[in-house]
Amino acid sequence: MTVRRLLVVFHTPSSGTQRLADALEAGCRSDDVRALADDGVGVEVRVASPFATDADDLRWAEALVVGTTENFGTMSGALKDLFDRTYYDVIDDTVGLPYALVVKGRFDDGSGTVAAVQRIVTGLRWREVQPPTLVIGDVDDAALARVAEVGMTMAGGLLTGMW
Ligand SMILES: Cc1cc2nc3c(=O)[nH]c(=O)nc-3n(C[C@H](O)[C@H](O)[C@H](O)COP(=O)(O)O)c2cc1C
Repeated sequence: MTVRRLLVVFHTPSSGTQRLADALEAGCRSDDVRALADDGVGVEVRVASPFATDADDLRWAEALVVGTTENFGTMSGALKDLFDRTYYDVIDDTVGLPYALVVKGRFDDGSGTVAAVQRIVTGLRWREVQPPTLVIGDVDDAALARVAEVGMTMAGGLLTGMW
């Protein structure tokens, strides 16, 4: 069996963000995704904090979902730390990496975080394969469904050869 590799890096400092990360992982592992795996292709999903992620993990990934809070109008320190630690190590090895971004904010619109992340991944030449998913305010069922869909899409895209 061919196993495709999906990495989810999610900063989860609150119960709300943890619920989002759990929903996203559940989407990656959903029955709909499993159904696509019947033809000899599977997907391995790893979920980790940015602090527990290193350059080897990013090189391992064939697709990536990044989840971060919006703090002080930009990405979390945790995610920034990951980029700071790994940027030059991976810059030649992860070109074209398909990725999706999830931003959890409380009162801003998430645009500061989107812009900051996009600036960095433009340098890395990663490929944004979904528009950013913004969750602002309380985490409700609709938000959980939206991030689950991100997981389904990213895992399904790997299984079907979209990326
Ligand atoms: C130090 C700090 C700075 C923050 N700055 C912002 C901000 O600039 N904009 C915003 O929308 N939320 C901001 N927040 C709120 C976080 O985005 C929020 O805590 C996170 O989305 C988790 O939300 P939850 O408690 O609903 O799960 C900040 C939180 C902290 C702890």
